[in-house]
Amino acid sequence: MSEASQTGFFISFEGSEGCGKSTQIRHLIESLRDAGHEPLLVREPGGTPIGEHIRHLLQHSPDNGAMTPEAELLLFAASRAQLVREKILPALAAARIVISDRFLDSTTVYQGVARKIPAATVESINRFAAGSRRPDVTFLLDLDCTEGFARLRERAHPDDKRDRMEEEPLAFYEAVRHGYLAAAQAHPDRIRVLDAAKPQAEIARAIRAELQKRSHVLFQGIRL
Ligand code: TMP
Repeated sequence: MSEASQTGFFISFEGSEGCGKSTQIRHLIESLRDAGHEPLLVREPGGTPIGEHIRHLLQHSPDNGAMTPEAELLLFAASRAQLVREKILPALAAARIVISDRFLDSTTVYQGVARKIPAATVESINRFAAGSRRPDVTFLLDLDCTEGFARLRERAHPDDKRDRMEEEPLAFYEAVRHGYLAAAQAHPDRIRVLDAAKPQAEIARAIRAELQKRSHVLFQGIRL
């Protein structure tokens, strides 16, 4: 995005389970608020009333056990189609900073690479659902899958029900990790890979520095 542009700034966060996305998003929102910004935070699947129903269906509904990969792909895409038009594009048009907890790289990787739906099919559905707007920058928090699983177990409350994706075997998450790293290689200008095993504060600083590098004007007020 050019610095003079008035089309907002779109940031997405990606990574496998337990990678620390939520923590980093929290840190970033705090820094942006301290600098006088009021970013819009959305999550996928979800982020709109329709999307939150789809999220329930995908993750926790007792009826989702027999969901096919094709239905799963279309549900993620439906949630995104709603989110983009109802929330993301209007906020960007109003020159806001938008932070999305996952965006279309998740579909490319989880449904494409890990569920093995052909890449061309996923790409064409992604294009239909999300339109042409892509994040200005995507932070990929890369973490060893065993470590990610250990973190999930550590923070889980004994009464927590694991969601449908969290029931997948380690091999699925190995595929997710490699899929993300391949996406980063395919889009080196957009996707910034961060080592999620590093201390939280260090990762948060790297994220702020990357944003300043990408737009001095917009992010000049954030403290490094
Ligand atoms: P999260 O909200 O805890 O990140 O969980 C979302 C889950 O849904 C996670 O396992 C990744 C998965 N997912 C997909 O498989 N495809 C998608 O397009 C998106 C957005 C998420």
